[in-house]
Amino acid sequence: MSGRLITFEGIDGAGKSTHVGWYAERLRARGIEAVLTREPGGTSLAERLRELLLSEPMSIEAETMLMFAARNDHLERLIRPALARGAWVICDRFTDSTYAYQGGGRGVSFERIEQLESWVHRGLQPARTYLFDLPAELAAQRRAAARDADRFEAEDLAFFGRVRDAYLDRQARAPSRMLTIDARRSIAEIQNQLEEDIANLCCI
Ligand code: ADP
Ligand code: TYD
Repeated sequence: MSGRLITFEGIDGAGKSTHVGWYAERLRARGIEAVLTREPGGTSLAERLRELLLSEPMSIEAETMLMFAARNDHLERLIRPALARGAWVICDRFTDSTYAYQGGGRGVSFERIEQLESWVHRGLQPARTYLFDLPAELAAQRRAAARDADRFEAEDLAFFGRVRDAYLDRQARAPSRMLTIDARRSIAEIQNQLEEDIANLCCI
């Protein structure tokens, strides 16, 4: 059995973190080795870059390049080796986040992001991406009830509206890879949809 990269995407507060651990467990129940990780992060260097990215003011160019520096380390040290031994890698955020946040949210050109993506990915793409979609207002309410804001979460509703639009645009361009999850629904309903998709993926 060959490894698969599965990514979870969406604006902050959409519910990704609530589901990634459960998803990995469902794969393990089917006898699949599931590696759970996140971006920015996943290796010791990338986790240190994450701390800077979430707290330190910086230019949008530095922010974009640091996201890809963290991703390069993560891919080379963790993701590619895991895929090579046949594991499924479940990643809380990946490159669609850079298109949505640095591209849609901050205004970095998509061409620039594509250049970095082709350098760092070397052709690797997720087998499946779940896009947790919900209105920016609802996500902000969920975040406010759950935790203090980091440097990204402190952005206003207009920023998250642009991030959401960029995600939806990417989904429209890659409908077979990206599956939209209506994140306004209950956790149980979302898990039913994910469970169905796991069954589909296991048959491919
Ligand atoms: P993300 O990882 O996408 O930022 P979280 O998983 O941390 O989002 O969820 C943000 C908050 O919303 C948490 O308090 C979580 O318990 C809650 N939450 C997650 N999914 C749902 C849901 N389907 N319905 C209601 N609340 C939810
Ligand atoms: P996340 O782990 O979702 O934060 P939290 O644990 O607070 O839910 O992601 C951290 C932040 O990094 C999130 O606000 C989005 C941002 N981000 C980007 O802007 N670009 C990227 O390429 C990635 C991977 C994350």
